Amino acid sequence: TQQTRHHCVALQSASSDTIQKNHTLIFTKESNIRNCSCLADIRDCDYSLANLLCNCRTVLPSTMEKTDYSSDLTIWFTDTSLLELLLNFTTVWDLKLSFCGTTPLPTEYLTIWGLRKLRVKNKVEGQFPEQSVTIYSSSKSEKEDLLTMHSKDRQMLVYISFLDTSLFNGYSLLKSYSVENVSSITEHFHNLLHSSVFSTSDNKSYVVTFIY
Ligand SMILES: *[C@@H]1O[C@H](CO)[C@@H](O)[C@H](O)[C@H]1NC(C)=O
Ligand SMILES: *[C@@H]1O[C@H](CO)[C@@H](O)[C@H](O)[C@H]1NC(C)=O
Ligand SMILES: *[C@@H]1O[C@H](CO)[C@@H](O)[C@H](O)[C@H]1NC(C)=O
Ligand SMILES: *[C@@H]1O[C@H](CO)[C@@H](O)[C@H](O)[C@H]1NC(C)=O
Ligand SMILES: *[C@@H]1O[C@H](CO)[C@@H](O)[C@H](O)[C@H]1NC(C)=O
Repeated sequence: TQQTRHHCVALQSASSDTIQKNHTLIFTKESNIRNCSCLADIRDCDYSLANLLCNCRTVLPSTMEKTDYSSDLTIWFTDTSLLELLLNFTTVWDLKLSFCGTTPLPTEYLTIWGLRKLRVKNKVEGQFPEQSVTIYSSSKSEKEDLLTMHSKDRQMLVYISFLDTSLFNGYSLLKSYSVENVSSITEHFHNLLHSSVFSTSDNKSYVVTFIY
């Protein structure tokens, strides 16, 4: 442990001039969830290195509360059930998902609020290495300013993304498309499963993005 501590200090001082902040890494292994605060970038799916270099604690799925993440979040996962528990219907701005499993994932939709940037990585070093999609940039973005101003009087702009979990199987390139200015998700996407969870009687203007 002496060596471990030494290692951390070295990492911290090495990056002190770049004012690097800890980021949150959550990984699932078997039925366990570990929530870590890491200073270093850990190689994807390297659980032991994460346990060694980050400040991690075990989270019990039964007592877990859904949280919103306004800073970077990295998740390593092996199946959709714990991913659902961690992410479905949560707010995450900047998300990196690394698939560490070997069994192909089914098509299921993960609903994420406010997603700005998504990076995905498959463990299988196939044709597609890390891929990313940016749905919208920071609040400084001209387009968003325009939309926000435009909608200030009447409507609140809400970003919602639906992510197809089978994209991690790496059969094709990551793709996304967005539909802007959607006043009612239920009305415009009535074929969408669970559209009933979205209320209809509000003044929100949705930007609906499908990632697949
Ligand atoms: C993980 O830890 C962060 C703080 O580092 C906390 O904000 C977040 O809620 C935790 N997430 C879970 C699922 O426990
Ligand atoms: C930041 O990460 C380092 C290891 O990477 C850890 O020792 C430290 O406790 C973390 N800080 C917080 C506030 O979690
Ligand atoms: C997210 O929640 C919806 C509604 O409960 C569910 O149908 C969907 O399968 C969940 N997504 C995943 C990836 O489990
Ligand atoms: C949004 O839709 C409304 C009608 O629902 C329309 O009046 C308005 O011009 C649209 N705005 C944009 C930016 O497309
Ligand atoms: C919703 O829009 C109507 C006009 O279309 C307006 O009168 C009402 O105040 C708005 N409600 C909210 C909560 O903004």
